[in-house]
Amino acid sequence: MIITIDGPAGAGKSTVAKMLAEKLGFVHFNSGSLFRGITAFLISQNTDINHIDEKKIKKLRIKTIFDGKNQLIFVNSQNFSNHLRDNEVSKRAPIVSAIPEFRKIIDDCQRDFAKNNNLVIDGRDIGSHVFPNADIKFYLTCDIDERAKRRYNEEKIKNPNIDIDEIKQQIIARDKFDMNKPISPLVIPDNAIIIDSTSLSPEQVVEKMLQYINIKNS
Ligand code: DC
Repeated sequence: MIITIDGPAGAGKSTVAKMLAEKLGFVHFNSGSLFRGITAFLISQNTDINHIDEKKIKKLRIKTIFDGKNQLIFVNSQNFSNHLRDNEVSKRAPIVSAIPEFRKIIDDCQRDFAKNNNLVIDGRDIGSHVFPNADIKFYLTCDIDERAKRRYNEEKIKNPNIDIDEIKQQIIARDKFDMNKPISPLVIPDNAIIIDSTSLSPEQVVEKMLQYINIKNS
């Protein structure tokens, strides 16, 4: 069974995907971590991401593996799991995510993994492109000010001088980029159930999702 959760940055997709997967006994697959894993690998190879072409990508012979049990990401047999949230990785992952050859590697990895696993998988193009025939598709939205507030509360522990307006502008820019990518832009997938998480706790979002899943399975 495949359950997809798409939506903009900061809507809480990964948090609820993890909780929902736990409740159902499914594997949680965060597709963004594959984009981040490839980005970390490219940085480790000193690859100039802004000037990479098909030939150079082929030469790298990239192979990604997701270890669902331990939630680890391997690229060419190297474990990059501890680097997925590095600042440089966060900055460059959007560039990597707009390159078709990388998306193809990641699409294949996700589809292969789904052959043998029940999944809750979150990302930007999962219900629209990777698994258009998923059993249940959710699209999680959230008001921009609430998303900025959530990010601010997370970030201020690491960086007390962080400015909430700056975070809001970054999220707006990110939404614009994700929604206007020429390849696999963020869209509401056909037949997706839209849930607005603005005034809901993660537990309440999961509860709503479980209700839809129970209806579907009854
Ligand atoms: O959700 P995240 O920030 O970890 O995602 C990392 C990058 O990958 C971000 O630029 C969005 C992109 N992404 C994507 O293009 N498609 C997905 N299915 C998941 C993530």
